[in-house]
Amino acid sequence: MRLTINGREHELEADVRTSLLDVLREHLSLTGTKKGCDHGQCGACTILVNGRRINSCLTLAVMHEGDEITTIEGLGEPGRLHPMQESFLHHDGFQCGYCTPGQIVSAVGMLDEIAKGWPSHVSASLEGGASASADEVSERMSGNLCRCSAYPNIVDAIREVADAEETRGTERNAA
Ligand code: FES
Ligand code: FES
Repeated sequence: MRLTINGREHELEADVRTSLLDVLREHLSLTGTKKGCDHGQCGACTILVNGRRINSCLTLAVMHEGDEITTIEGLGEPGRLHPMQESFLHHDGFQCGYCTPGQIVSAVGMLDEIAKGWPSHVSASLEGGASASADEVSERMSGNLCRCSAYPNIVDAIREVADAEETRGTERNAA
């Protein structure tokens, strides 16, 4: 199969029953994406497929030929971190760090969902216009578990990035 991951094409052979998570970790050594439960319950394996966040343990790799796959390694790298990675560092949004890659990738996908106007269970309106309030962030990140319970700092980190993006958007509109 041929997969495009972090902008790079990979040609590989794997059993058609292999999950995307196992292909990333076991075949391509992209071990930034973590395996917590392997059952879609913890969010540690979250990646972006065509910009949307999914649990990579719940999908087969062979289903993703032609998709744009982004893992934590594709968001930033040492010396050139993604703003969400910087913010997690700044706010100390982790303890053991095991859930952190999934949290960061999920947060990037989640802010995009808010920007697109997709409502959540706690949004006041189904017509869009939700902001990255603490309630919205907690609800929308509820699929990403942290066994160390670093949640307050994770929420702070995400909200700082959301505020910065909002400010940049306002400045762009005013220019
Ligand atoms: S490892 Fe995929 S959700 Fe837990
Ligand atoms: S920091 Fe340990 S699981 Fe989240």
